[in-house]
Amino acid sequence: MAALLRRYGVGARWYDVLSGERWVYRAGREAGIRLLDPRPGDTVIDLGCGTGLNFAGLVAAVGPTGRVIGIDRSSDMLAVARRRIVAAGWHDVVTLVEADAATLDPAALRAAAGGRGADAVFSTYALSVIPARDEAWRRACAAVRPGGRAGIVDMQRPRGRWRVLEPLALLACATGGADIDAHPWRLLERDAADSRGIARAERKGGHLVAVAGELSPSVTG
Ligand SMILES: C[S@@+](CC[C@H](N)C(=O)[O-])C[C@H]1O[C@@H](n2cnc3c(N)ncnc32)[C@H](O)[C@@H]1O
Repeated sequence: MAALLRRYGVGARWYDVLSGERWVYRAGREAGIRLLDPRPGDTVIDLGCGTGLNFAGLVAAVGPTGRVIGIDRSSDMLAVARRRIVAAGWHDVVTLVEADAATLDPAALRAAAGGRGADAVFSTYALSVIPARDEAWRRACAAVRPGGRAGIVDMQRPRGRWRVLEPLALLACATGGADIDAHPWRLLERDAADSRGIARAERKGGHLVAVAGELSPSVTG
């Protein structure tokens, strides 16, 4: 089962149940969307969107005039995401792109975002899975308009008295193929317009870290 989930292939159909979403990981994505604070009408790129567990929160924020562009390289994860879109009637708001984020053409992504660039990029529990995370991040940011925002939610080892849960956190990350020590929120700390302007929240004993802030014009398109 671990290998199935890690490849995000045929294990996709069990992802929502086996990923610990209800008890652990939902808290991180909710904190991340709150910090990102997408506005009605915004276009948000969901990098490594998986089965679309961010869509409900993002669609609620951007509204019927906004857009959510979900990118993932796993056709099986996107098949689950597509079923979610159909069931919720989000066809006019959510678009799916099957692509490797590390080789994605930012110009094509800008075009998908309506030409002027997306208003924000958001990524939850995906950058720690992508070995070429720096490149994936760079390309996604290049599809964001100047002045746009970014949010990252990912994992680290639990802290303080929660350290007793470290073996469980390590197991969850190993099952999903995530590097628990990658700390991908550092990409935003490096590329923010003002690192002091980054909002941060931690959940589940520090295991989940959510950050959001405005991107530097040096990394946007
Ligand atoms: C742990 S899942 C997270 C999914 C979703 N963001 C969530 O919060 O539930 C990691 C996702 O990253 C995707 N992924 C891994 N490497 C990728 C790459 N190079 N390009 C695009 N997606 C990738 C996987 O297919 C998988 O759907």
